[in-house]
Amino acid sequence: MKIFIDSADIEEIKKAYSWGIIDGVTTNPSLIKLSLERRKAAGVQTELKDYITEILKIAKGTPVSLEVTETTGEGMLTQGILLYRLFNSVAKNVCIKIPINPALTSDAVKQYEGIYAISELAKRKIPVNCTLVFTPEQALLAAKAGATYVSPFAGRVDDLLRTRSQTLFGQDEYYPSEGKEDKTKLIEDNGIVSGIDLVAQCVEIIKTYNLPTKVLAASLRNPRQVREAALVGADVATIPFSVLNKLLIHPKTQEGMKKFVEDSVQEYKELVNKK
Ligand code: E4P
Repeated sequence: MKIFIDSADIEEIKKAYSWGIIDGVTTNPSLIKLSLERRKAAGVQTELKDYITEILKIAKGTPVSLEVTETTGEGMLTQGILLYRLFNSVAKNVCIKIPINPALTSDAVKQYEGIYAISELAKRKIPVNCTLVFTPEQALLAAKAGATYVSPFAGRVDDLLRTRSQTLFGQDEYYPSEGKEDKTKLIEDNGIVSGIDLVAQCVEIIKTYNLPTKVLAASLRNPRQVREAALVGADVATIPFSVLNKLLIHPKTQEGMKKFVEDSVQEYKELVNKK
């Protein structure tokens, strides 16, 4: 499974790339807003075009998703082409993020605007990451339209299901992939029992029909969700820096390390530290 960093924070991206395990970056308007606010609070002035350029350079050789903000097919297409023209020359790694359905209401004629933008960008060989995927059928249609990636939002599905179970929860709390019962009935969203179940169903459909689209598990909030995304065969997991930082922690690892440090005899240290 490939690992992307889900961040628009340049320091986080730089750090994560220095570890040698990162295969790409996903950004979205909320992440860009957050990183600009953080920089402003720290008194750092940011020219957004230069900032994005720097991110693309750090990630050279791996894809960086940049999201459109328009809500019509034509608007998203124009913006996608513009973003691609503006930034792809930097490191040839821009992927345009298109919401599966940008309609802000249930107005039937607007539901396919995202699909239209994906198809048109794909025709122009511009890679697309289809975002805000909450059903396997959305993933199927995005794949048919030619999306390079489809991004099921695991954590946000769990948020929805937790709300339905009316229990108090923290956003990064683990939600069981097999679902949860509320008075003997499995809590579900139209047949989806957890965020990871959504990822698994997307993977199954895409693999069954041999579609070239990759399933990118998004909105991951804790290490166990990352493990489960890998177990169900997600091609990619995009992981926030805070979760990346938690992936390697285990008390027995820390305990073992403490003992190894304590047990290092002077002779051994001298031997292995010889220049
Ligand atoms: C990535 O592509 C998504 O924008 C991101 O994972 C959303 O995560 P969130 O639900 O934690 O905001």
